[in-house]
Amino acid sequence: MKLIMLGPPGAGKGTQAEFLSEKYGIPQISTGAIIRSVIASGSEFGKKLKDLIDNGNLISDEDVLKLVKERIEEPDCANGYIFDGFPRTIAQAEALIKMDIVIDKVLSIELSDEEILKRLSGRRECASCRATYHIEDKPSKVEGKCDRCGGELICREDDKPETIKHRLAVYYESTAPLKAFYKEKGLLVTAHGQKLLEDTKREVLKALGELK
Ligand code: AP5
Repeated sequence: MKLIMLGPPGAGKGTQAEFLSEKYGIPQISTGAIIRSVIASGSEFGKKLKDLIDNGNLISDEDVLKLVKERIEEPDCANGYIFDGFPRTIAQAEALIKMDIVIDKVLSIELSDEEILKRLSGRRECASCRATYHIEDKPSKVEGKCDRCGGELICREDDKPETIKHRLAVYYESTAPLKAFYKEKGLLVTAHGQKLLEDTKREVLKALGELK
């Protein structure tokens, strides 16, 4: 199965992709997480990406495609994968078609801008395995420590309120048009993220045809 998670920053793409990755036994491919690990490596390429991502701008289509191509060649992708935050432009979606990658479904998670601001300011992320938490809605068992690997929980650089607003503007301009692109191809399904975590999971499963 090959699935794309679409939606504004903070809609819950990563949280639902994590859950679906366990359910289907296929990897979650978060381009944001890949970019953050390139930055953490301290390479020249990483330095170039850091400025863009910290300010809430997209990295170039060329750079993101290079990273995605490398990732999907890894053996764990043989039975499919979940793209989380990719594609993010029409050019990236067209590149997937040129690469003969057949997508089964595109799941768009919808959430209001107000809720996004609230969610992202309370988000914490594991510095090691990148699992996602929320200080109120999805707290870790031990404060500041990841349930999965015991890593340190941190705030992301791009989760400052001004940067969140800019990321939203970039989303509406460059990424939201993908909904019409995939709707026209009959691949788009929608779930509302404006709910408690367990209710959102149910909405997601319904949208994917796994629940009535
Ligand atoms: P990326 O890391 O992909 O960030 P994003 O798309 O902005 O999405 P987020 O990770 O912020 O949010 P999410 O929707 O995954 O929500 P989450 O599940 O964490 O990308 C970062 C940057 O990388 C981009 O700005 C860009 O610069 C670059 N980049 C990445 N891909 C690119 C590409 N293809 N092309 C070019 N550049 C690219 O949830 C948010 C919070 O809410 C969490 O705390 C969570 O616990 C909580 N939560 C989730 N669901 C619920 C719920 N139902 N109820 C209550 N709380 C909830």
